[in-house]
Amino acid sequence: MKYPNKVKIVDVGPRDGLQNEVVNISTETKVELIDRLGDAGVKNIEAAAFVSPKWIPQMADSHDVMAKINRRDNIVYSVLTPNMYGYEAAMAAKADEIAIFGAASETFSRKNINCSISESMLRFKPVCAAAKKAGVPVRGYISCVLGCPYEGGIAPELVGSVARELKAMGCHEISLGDTVGKGTPRKAQSVIEAVAKHIPIENIAVHFHDTYGQALANILAVMEQGVAVIDTAVSGLGGCPYASGASGNVASEDVIYMLNGLDIETGINLEQLVETGIFIAKSMGQPSNAKVTRALSGGSKWV
Ligand code: HMG
Ligand code: MG
Repeated sequence: MKYPNKVKIVDVGPRDGLQNEVVNISTETKVELIDRLGDAGVKNIEAAAFVSPKWIPQMADSHDVMAKINRRDNIVYSVLTPNMYGYEAAMAAKADEIAIFGAASETFSRKNINCSISESMLRFKPVCAAAKKAGVPVRGYISCVLGCPYEGGIAPELVGSVARELKAMGCHEISLGDTVGKGTPRKAQSVIEAVAKHIPIENIAVHFHDTYGQALANILAVMEQGVAVIDTAVSGLGGCPYASGASGNVASEDVIYMLNGLDIETGINLEQLVETGIFIAKSMGQPSNAKVTRALSGGSKWV
């Protein structure tokens, strides 16, 4: 089987991982998490979200987080921006990349960002135009690509058409979110096929939540198709407040272990990543969700 030689890992732990936590995570802990990920060699870190603090209070300190991290030139610090308000805040915080986030499900779109899919596209257009003018790259997320917590099945063609719109707006990368984490490998491949009709495969990223334990299998399946951008979260953190019952993103540690075994380059040091996962698990007072961390640190109460 032919896989990519090199894979870009986008660690979304500091954003997706922490947005759903009931435990209050301090700004200092978030900053240390991001800096440790950088030390471990992660080059793309989703660090914060400029969203309504009434909707997602966990991200209310995003400006402080961005101000306090030890910025490095070779790391892309990305942030979520649902509208122009979020865009202005992201620019004030000197984000390297912004991410708009739409969905392939009408109901999820309304629950998550309080508007329909077509209204969301109207909101994203000025954000993309402003970012283009400022020379800031835009990532486009599509949630619910393998199912919706409210509507159930989602047609791959619908995902393809949302992807086409986001690409036309100027997104350089489209991240396909299995928000509920129910997808299986063949279905994941069908979505990639549908999206690849509109977007070059190198611009497609996958974002698998691991609720049903399918994420590694799904990643392997889509790498066979040439996908080489993978979203992960250190310690398997994550979830979405509007996808109840969905668990965290696939653990970065488990993905790196698998990619190392396949001789696929990521530039990430697994030992340091495991330490980072233990750091955040301890800070949150809960065990790590990464199987590799458990295997490598048997006996610790954090794993
Ligand atoms: P809204 O209430 O419809 O917005 O929320 P609005 O424009 O009517 O504004 C209402 C209030 O919010 C106003 O304040 C605005 O100033 C304020 P007030 O006058 O009431 O005091 N406001 C903002 N404040 C801060 N930052 C902003 C902002 N915009 C408006 N950017 C909105 C619409 C999109 C803002 C809201 O629904 C929201 O913030 N949603 C965020 C939801 C979210 O963050 N979800 C999790 C991330 S997505 C995800 O996890 C999925 C993903 O991981 C992929 C996957 O797994 O599938 C990406
Ligand atoms: Mg997510």
